[in-house]
Amino acid sequence: MPEIFETIPIDDFIAELASIRSTAAHAILAGKFGRPPFGGINDTEPSRRPEIIFLVQLGVYPEWRETHLLARQIQRIDDYKLVRRVGQQIADETKHAAVLCDQLEKWGADPKRFYLEPIYEWSASFDYMDKLIHPAEYFAVSNFIGEGLFLPTLLAPMARFDRDTFSAYVEQILPDEPAHVRLGRDFIYQYCRTGEMQHRVRRHATIVAKQYCLGFEAAIRYAADAAAGRDPMAERDKIALKALSPPTPFEPDPVTLQTYNALVAEFDI
Ligand SMILES: [Fe+2]
Ligand SMILES: [Fe+2]
Repeated sequence: MPEIFETIPIDDFIAELASIRSTAAHAILAGKFGRPPFGGINDTEPSRRPEIIFLVQLGVYPEWRETHLLARQIQRIDDYKLVRRVGQQIADETKHAAVLCDQLEKWGADPKRFYLEPIYEWSASFDYMDKLIHPAEYFAVSNFIGEGLFLPTLLAPMARFDRDTFSAYVEQILPDEPAHVRLGRDFIYQYCRTGEMQHRVRRHATIVAKQYCLGFEAAIRYAADAAAGRDPMAERDKIALKALSPPTPFEPDPVTLQTYNALVAEFDI
C-alpha cells in the first residue's frame, strides 16, 4: 500500500519552508560557516585581491549551471504564465554569467576556471537539484531556498560592505534575484498541495539548505587560501597533485605494476 502523507495548508507549508531557510540564514549570518572577505581592506583594486578574483570565478558556476537546469525544467511546466517567468529567469541567469565573465576578463582573470572545474561542494548541490523531476521540487529548492539564501547571505552583504568591488553583482544581479525567489514561492503555492509533494519538497529543502551551508563554508575557506597566496584550485586538488605530479609522481611497486598490467591484458582494455 502506498504511504499516506499528511497534507498541511499551503500557507503553513510555505511558512515551514521559510523556516528551514531562515534557520540556515541565521547560522550563516552569525558566522557559523566563516565570514566572507568583504570590506575592511586597504587595497581597493579588486584585480590585486586574489580572494575577490576567486569568489567571482566561483560565482560564474551557479549562474551558468542554473541556465542549463532551467532550460530543462521549462519543458516540464504546463502553465503559460510560469513558462514566461521562467523564460525571463533564463535570460537573467545568462546575463549574470556573462557580466561576471566580462568582469573577470577586465581583471585579466580566467572566467571559466571554476566553471569547468568547480569546487565540489557547489557542483554537488547543482547535481542534486538537476535530478529533481517535478518543477515544483526544483523551483522550491533552487529558487525559494537556494536563491533565497544567496540574497541575504552574500548579495546583500556585498552591496552593504563592498559595493564597488562587487559592482557586477550589486548592479546587474542583485536587482533580478527577489523575483526569482518569489517565482519559487509561487511554484510552491501552485503545486505543493498534496501530502506526497509536500513530503518530497520538505526533504529536498532540508538537504539543499544544508548543502548551501557546506558550499558557503567551502567558498570562505578557499577564499582565505587565495588571500594567503595559495591557489584555491591547487588546494582543492592537493591529494591528487601530490600523487600524480612532479617532483613526486607516484611510482608503483612491482606487484602493483604486474597486477595492473595483468588486468589490462585480461580485460583487453
Ligand atoms: Fe543569477
Ligand atoms: Fe537568480
